Formats: sequence, C-alpha cells, structure tokens
Amino acid sequence: MKRPGSMTEAEAARELARLAAEIAEHDRRYHQEDAPTIADAEYDALRRANGALEAAFPQLARPDSPSRLIGAAPAAGFGKVAHRRPMLSLDNAFGPEDVRNFLGRVRRFLGLDEGETVAVVAEPKIDGLSISLRYEDGAFKQGATRGDGTVGEDVTVNLRTVDDVPDRLPAGAPGVVEVRGEIYMRRDDFAALNDQRERAEQTTFANPRNAAAGSLRQLDWRITAGRKLGFFAYAAGELSEPVSESHWGWLETLKSWGFPVNPRARLCRSVDELFDVHADIGENRADLPYDVDGVVYKIDDYGLQERLGTVSRAPRWAVAHKFPAEQAQTVLEDIAIQVGRTGALTPVAHLRPITVGGVVVSRATLHNEDEIRRKDVRVGDTVVVQRAGDVIPQVLRAVEDERPADAAPFVFPQECPCELKTPVKKPEGEAVARCSGELACPHQQVERIRHFVSRDAFDIEGLGERQVRAFFDAGLVRTPADLFDLESRDGKDGAPLREWDGWGEKSAANLFDAIEARRAIPLDRFIYALGIRQIGQATARLLARRYGGQASWREAMMAAARERKDNPEEKKPEAVGEAYADLCSIDQIGVAVADELTAFFQERLTVDIVAELEKRGVTVEAAAAADTASPIAGKTIVFTGALSAMTRSEAKARAEAMGAKVSGSVSKKTDYVIAGEDAGSKARRAAELGVAVLSEEEWRSLIEKDRSPGRETA
Ligand code: IVH
Repeated sequence: MKRPGSMTEAEAARELARLAAEIAEHDRRYHQEDAPTIADAEYDALRRANGALEAAFPQLARPDSPSRLIGAAPAAGFGKVAHRRPMLSLDNAFGPEDVRNFLGRVRRFLGLDEGETVAVVAEPKIDGLSISLRYEDGAFKQGATRGDGTVGEDVTVNLRTVDDVPDRLPAGAPGVVEVRGEIYMRRDDFAALNDQRERAEQTTFANPRNAAAGSLRQLDWRITAGRKLGFFAYAAGELSEPVSESHWGWLETLKSWGFPVNPRARLCRSVDELFDVHADIGENRADLPYDVDGVVYKIDDYGLQERLGTVSRAPRWAVAHKFPAEQAQTVLEDIAIQVGRTGALTPVAHLRPITVGGVVVSRATLHNEDEIRRKDVRVGDTVVVQRAGDVIPQVLRAVEDERPADAAPFVFPQECPCELKTPVKKPEGEAVARCSGELACPHQQVERIRHFVSRDAFDIEGLGERQVRAFFDAGLVRTPADLFDLESRDGKDGAPLREWDGWGEKSAANLFDAIEARRAIPLDRFIYALGIRQIGQATARLLARRYGGQASWREAMMAAARERKDNPEEKKPEAVGEAYADLCSIDQIGVAVADELTAFFQERLTVDIVAELEKRGVTVEAAAAADTASPIAGKTIVFTGALSAMTRSEAKARAEAMGAKVSGSVSKKTDYVIAGEDAGSKARRAAELGVAVLSEEEWRSLIEKDRSPGRETA
C-alpha cells in the first residue's frame, strides 16, 4: 500500500472501502465465531492504517468506518440487550512514548499544571470478553455481552452458572447497579478443555479468550456450566445513585460486595509508578494463571473522567498499554512426524529450548505439509517463535539471512515413521497426510489405546501416555482388550507390574481396580472409545440412542458395512441398502460419517477388537431406556425450516428425550415432519409420501401435553 500522503483521493477511497470490509470480516470472525484468523497486532495495524487514511482524507471517512464501530453486531440466537450506558473500548498504547502522550493529552485537556499530580489506577488487561451484570434491588437480573457496544447478547442464564458472579448484593447497595468486567478462562482449565475436545475429535480453541467466549455464548447453559469460567470486575455501568467518587473507591466497593477484583490493581501518582506496574505484571505474566495482554491505565477521579469524556469508541480517560508480542528466535533442530490415533501425520518442530515470555519452549506445531512449504522453514534455520495468547507455541517464519548453506527444504515423508514404514496417503485437496497402516501401525495402536482409556471413553485412571507406551512396548497390552485380563496375566511372563520402574504395590493394585471398575460401560462411551474417525462423543450418543444395545448396534453396522462393500460408489443411501440408509437417516449422520463406520466394520482387525472385548468380560450397558409414555415415543420425526420458539437443536433434544428418533431425511418410515418457516423440499416429500406434516404450533401442543412436572426435557 502507498503512504496516505502519496495517494489520490480515488485511491484513498478505494483503500478505505477495502479496509472497512476487511476489518468487518475480522470483527465477525472474532466476535461471532470466536475464531480470529489474524494476530491482534495485525488487526491493530489494519485499524491504524484506516485511522491514518481518514486523518489524511477526513472528507472520505465512511459511515461504516471501523473507527466508528466498537465491535461486531450480536449473533442470532440470543436475546438482545440495549446497554443503558455504552460499553466502550480502549485506545492502545504500544510503548512508553504513547503512554506519555496519553497523559500529556489528559493534562492539556484539563488544563493542569506540570506540578499537579493526577492519580491513575493501573490494572491488568485481562484477555477475555467483557460483560455487564445488572442488579435490581440487590438481585442479579441480567447479564449481557458487549456486542457492538450499544447492543449485546443476553447471556443471563449462562452467567448464573459462573461462581465468581454473585447472585445478590449486600443490603444497602443502590436499587440499580451495573457491574462490568471480564469473563476469562484460566490457562490450565483451557488446556484441560482442549485436551478433552481433542480426544473427542472436536475442534480445539486457539486460546483461552476464544474458549471463554465460546463457552459463555452457548445456547444451552448446561454447556457453560460444564466449563470453568472466572470473572474480574473493573467498571460500572448504570447506577441509580453514585457509589464512589473515584475508580479506586469503586473497586474497593466491588470487593466489599463480593466481586473478584484483580489483586494487581494499583493506585499510582506518577508515570514511573505506572511503568513499574507494567514491568512487574509483564515480568510475571507467564506465572499468572490467566492471559493478560497489557495494563489498563484509568484516570482515578470520576469528576475528571466526566470532563474528559469519550471520543468515538474509547474514553479519553483510559488507555491500554499493551505488552509486546512474545517472540523469540531459536534454532529449528529437527522436524519430527507425530502419528495420531487415526493416522494423521503432524510435523512438530523440535527447537533449541528458549524462553518465550517466561515459558521454556522446545516444541512447536508446524500443522501440516503445506504450512511448512508456505513458510519454507528448514532444519537448521533460525526461526521466530511466538507464544501469543495461545498456549501452543507457533513457528512464525525463518530468518533467511541466517540460513546455513546446506539447509535443504523439508521433504515430507512418504512413509509412516513406524517400523512398518507403511505408505502415507494424502487425498487430493486435503491438508492432512495419513499413515495407511490403519490398525497395524504401532503408533496408531498406542494412540488408540490412549484414546480408549481417556476420560470421556473408558476413563481408566493411572494410564497416561508413558504407561500405555511401556505396556505396549513390553507386549503386555497390544489392543484395548488386553487391558481386561492384564491382572490375570500379571507376573506370568516377566516381572509383575509392582516391580516395574515407577510402579509399586499400591499403584499396581489401584490400576487393576480402575480397570475392574470399567468392565461395564454405557454403549455411547463404548462406541466413542473405539476411536472411529469422525465419531466423537455426540455422534456416539446418537448411535447409542438409535440402536439401543451393543449387539443390535454391531449387527446393524456389520450389515451396513456389507451393503457398502457391494456398493462402494453409490451416492444415494437408499440405493446402497436398508441398513446403510437407516444409518444415514439418523439426524446429523451423513454419508461421510456412515462411510467411516462401515469402513471400520469392514476391517477384520477392528471387528475382532469388539469381539475380543466381549470375550474378556466387558459388558456394554444398553442406552438409557427412552421415555415410552410420551405421545412421540418410538416415532420418527424430521424437523425442517426455522422454528420460532426454540432452536432446532433444542427441539431435537426435547424430542429425543421424549423417546422419539430424530432423523435428517424423510422416508416412508417417518411419522411426523415438523415444518417451521421456509420449510422446503422435505415438507413436499412428506406430502408426496403421505407423511403427517405438523406446524410448529401443532408440534408444541403435541409435546406440551407431556409436560408433567419433574419430567426431564432434554
Ligand atoms: S476498562 C471504558 N479494564 O479490554 C473502559 N477493560 O480493549 C472499558 N479489558 O472491552 C474497559 N481488562 O474487554 C477495562 N481492567 C480492564 C480490562 C479491560 C480487559 C478489556 C475489555 C474491553 C477491552 C478494551
């Protein structure tokens, strides 16, 4: 891009339009999808470029200019909340100069003399998402996200599940109180959540901020309740009567009311004190349990704040002093290939250990082959490593000037790193290369056992990566089934476990107990534990519900697998066969998932594992009996079009809890099609087949009949 000064007006207008669109897109990804695709610093650079152009061409400033908007419009699905007082954003300061300028502007604006001190509160800038909590007559009434600063999303129910948010204020608090602050997720809770999601083959969150936002903005509050969220209070919204004359006083009040206030907040009287706080928090950043991306300075006196007011989106009385991005350079010593449970090969950078932001980093992900090629990083290169809000460090780029003469481009292996050296396959258009060894590849076998014993599967305590690998290498546990006669084989073929390195009488006994305790397992966990590609917890639950018991599930899968084998190319499920079509008719299960299941059941080895488990006394409990008393028990229902009173997922969950099967496609076996607004081809097909079509209202009255007290509805 040219510099603003050398642009023509037409060029500037075009560039402003481009920047507005680009920033809006990044806002959407950040606020609505919680999945930003650029670093904060790049985003800030876009906004600065926009600001600089507008300063050079004020006549061209657009009505939709990013400088006028605070965030992004609220996503559909939540009620909207108009903020009584706007929720503002903060201007950034990227170094001491910017901070001095900020204080200079404040002094000039207020007409203060050099000698007059201005009290400023310095507090950590928590990397989470801001919310507003409204209390009326002492009771928590409503909680909202910032949204676009004027209108946010109603997340009251979800916020009630957050322990740090008090339900009540003490007697004596004003009738209306709005407390504002940051919802965040601790780094350890973030890591545990991502671990769990990875095992369930769900997408992981890029950083704690996204995880916090994604967890709070759930349409089902139970999901939020299952996530660990924290809250720090730091500002006020509407107050029916003044509580304090200063920000520091407000923080004291908040504490006395039971709100968590960050313990590192300080009341400062000079710029040097501010810098001390910044340096102190910066140096201890890595040891804090949550992500902090800067220090916020706020003029303490409310009278002065009032006089200073706000410009467009940010108050004149506050600034965020950001921390520099945590980057460091080190040598890329090796690129190793890791094999996942389903055979995915992930290149991992082995780095000469280096401290980045207080944490020693020796490994970083390189994602996949294309990523390595794009960045052209080579073994021997000096590379720039970044630990942003992200916990997983990234390799940003190579420092080309320092490239050794003999550094060659990385060649992605064509064979699995395991001793079988099975060929690697990478289907056209896919980023991930996989080992084709399936169950025969030892890496995959170990990973499958690890998955099998993991928390959401068989949940066998005491079996971490190290233990599983040791058992595998010793030939003691080659398949999950081997776990279930481990105790009876213990000591027969070598030293008993209690004599192994790292094991003792007690830990060995504990492990055998833990295995015994899992001999009986619910069907959905069993299915999930098998580690079939694309079958995460949710899909496993759907299958368990549909097929009820392990025997009927297995028979159905075997039948579908046979049908698919005879008809490998057919696109229409009905044409493949009855069992296959039945599988595809389960809502949310399409041909892609069905094919993973049938592929699994076409492999003799994998079928053996299921049989072996049974042989070693693993019993699978049938899925919880569906509600047989409800008017829709046993019925097959298809939802189509948009419902107004509840989301589709809520309606489906309700129907399933009442014993119905929810399917994604209409067939002769369908009992009801529930047609919401804009119902299209499915409603037409139902009419053709003579299947009953219910309006949303008819559907509601059908299920409302069933609202006897105490019934679980989801
Ligand atoms: S004060 C009028 N204080 O930073 C000032 N914001 O970039 C309103 N944030 O939307 C914000 N920690 O999400 C304030 N101690 C803190 C903060 C903080 C984090 C976030 C907040 C805000 C954003 C602005």
